[in-house]
Amino acid sequence: MLPKVISVFGLFSSFVVAGDATLVRDVNTTISHSAVLECSIQDRAITDWKSLRFYWQDDRNVVLYSYNNGRKVAEHVNELYQHRVTDFPQDIVRGNITIVLKNLTLDDNGRTYSSFAAVLDDSGTTRYHLEHTQICEMTLHVAVLYQEPRLDVNTEAMSAVCSLQGGFPAPDIQWVLLHNSSHQAVESRNVNTETKQNVHDHLYSSRSILHIPAGRHEAVSCLSHNPTLNRTVKVTHYFNTGAAESGIVGGREAKPHSRPYMVSVQYRGVHSCGGILIQRDFVLTAAHCKNETWGSCTVVLGAHDITKKERTQQRIEVDEYFAHPGFTGQYEYDIMLLKLKKKAKLSKNVKTIGLPEGKTSANMKCAVAGWGWTTAHDCPSNVLKEATENIEATSNCENIWQQYFNSDHMICTNFTKKSGGICRGDSGGPLICKNKLQGVTAYTSPEDCTDLSYPHVFTKVRFFIPWIKETMKK
Ligand SMILES: *[C@@H]1O[C@H](CO)[C@@H](O)[C@H](O)[C@H]1NC(C)=O
Ligand SMILES: *[C@@H]1O[C@H](CO)[C@@H](O)[C@H](O)[C@H]1NC(C)=O
Ligand SMILES: *[C@@H]1O[C@H](CO)[C@@H](O)[C@H](O)[C@H]1NC(C)=O
Ligand SMILES: *[C@@H]1O[C@H](CO)[C@@H](O)[C@H](O)[C@H]1NC(C)=O
Ligand SMILES: *[C@@H]1O[C@H](CO)[C@@H](O)[C@H](O)[C@H]1NC(C)=O
Ligand SMILES: *[C@@H]1O[C@H](CO)[C@@H](O)[C@H](O)[C@H]1NC(C)=O
Ligand SMILES: *[C@@H]1O[C@H](CO)[C@@H](O)[C@H](O)[C@H]1NC(C)=O
Repeated sequence: MLPKVISVFGLFSSFVVAGDATLVRDVNTTISHSAVLECSIQDRAITDWKSLRFYWQDDRNVVLYSYNNGRKVAEHVNELYQHRVTDFPQDIVRGNITIVLKNLTLDDNGRTYSSFAAVLDDSGTTRYHLEHTQICEMTLHVAVLYQEPRLDVNTEAMSAVCSLQGGFPAPDIQWVLLHNSSHQAVESRNVNTETKQNVHDHLYSSRSILHIPAGRHEAVSCLSHNPTLNRTVKVTHYFNTGAAESGIVGGREAKPHSRPYMVSVQYRGVHSCGGILIQRDFVLTAAHCKNETWGSCTVVLGAHDITKKERTQQRIEVDEYFAHPGFTGQYEYDIMLLKLKKKAKLSKNVKTIGLPEGKTSANMKCAVAGWGWTTAHDCPSNVLKEATENIEATSNCENIWQQYFNSDHMICTNFTKKSGGICRGDSGGPLICKNKLQGVTAYTSPEDCTDLSYPHVFTKVRFFIPWIKETMKK
């Protein structure tokens, strides 16, 4: 028997070679993404691939892809897979029989895909170089990301509840208590976790209750792990800083560097506004962040704790300020571009975010982030915080804010005391909906940013795209 397959790789790939022929591998990915079923016939004896035949099928023997006589044989492909497979004809002629399966659903989860191939001897006789043989075998694991976990702590009852919704597969939940600056795993008898699967969409939700043992704890964290993506999300509650501390006001500490486009706009080393890196040399922020008495200000990129000199940080001076010409110091056109003296170095911790394509709609859940005030009357935050707000119906924004709100170029959001939201010092930061930049933090109730009767207002980035593009050309 000839050695056949060797070449493999992929997202989250791990592999085992079974026997001497078939390559067995897991392919882990997320729903609606694609999976690369990478397989390549490596046989030096084969120089002529004209007679290559191969097909891919799933564990129900349903054919995804079939190839013979130098072309794809569409009639062999089952309708379940029609329009879902991408091939690479230019690579096939070298024995690379990789295909890509698109639009993954949970129906594809756990399926095994195998490829079989044959290559005739180039003498044209019926001798095979490679007989009809199984080459590769891939098991697909499809995950659905959980929504942001919620952590509610009741310090009277000394209990904490961590809730997760809408994910796949079932999460592993772990609790950690921070005690005298060291982490302690929590004993299982203090934890009660319940996980349910929805029969319609197959998604899991999970609720874990921790009975906090007596002791002087500094913080409690809930860690949820997605086994398919090998990814853990952590939410932390700090006891000493008061109720539901974390977000901006309320909310939570952001996972360090999970928002690599976040900028702290500083004057004399003091945070004054948030900003958003949209091009290596341009930061988007709010026009009201400009202070004539400032002189030059600096942007800090790649930061999590702005009071520290983190190695990931880049400090760049602002070269030019482009407040929108329509900004009069009031509420309208509250948007500004900062041109940096030099281009940011992009890295894992410093990335640009693109300008939005889609729109927002009422009730969409969006994220806000910043280093601003953590309670209405307290002080700015050292670490980046984030919270979730809800897009409010335009008519409500107009009814409440009256002449201050212009739906053409503003978006407004509602929030709860629990979810928290933006406050002083968060101006100029982003409103992110479905991973797209939609707004720049503009204004809240001047008396109290946590006043639920006044929705928070953001400058609508989409409206300003032509101005942004034009200005960045200067
Ligand atoms: C096989 O083809 C795919 C698609 O073009 C490519 O990504 C991959 O690197 C190729 N593998 C080998 C071993 O050539
Ligand atoms: C695959 O997904 C894309 C984007 O969501 C969609 O436009 C397309 O219709 C889908 N194709 C199939 C075959 O479901
Ligand atoms: C915390 O740890 C430090 C150093 O290990 C120790 O000196 C101190 O007594 C501890 N405090 C408490 C409250 O346990
Ligand atoms: C892929 O997903 C499976 C199923 O959840 C899991 O057992 C396996 O560890 C994952 N592999 C990697 C490399 O994360
Ligand atoms: C999951 O990730 C951790 C750290 O990122 C790594 O050490 C571990 O090997 C990974 N597990 C699997 C199954 O790939
Ligand atoms: C400008 O900054 C100074 C010093 O930080 C401050 O006292 C003043 O109120 C600011 N002006 C505006 C318009 O924000
Ligand atoms: C937020 O606004 C949406 C859209 O108008 C509405 O459905 C929802 O009930 C509001 N939520 C709160 C807490 O006011």
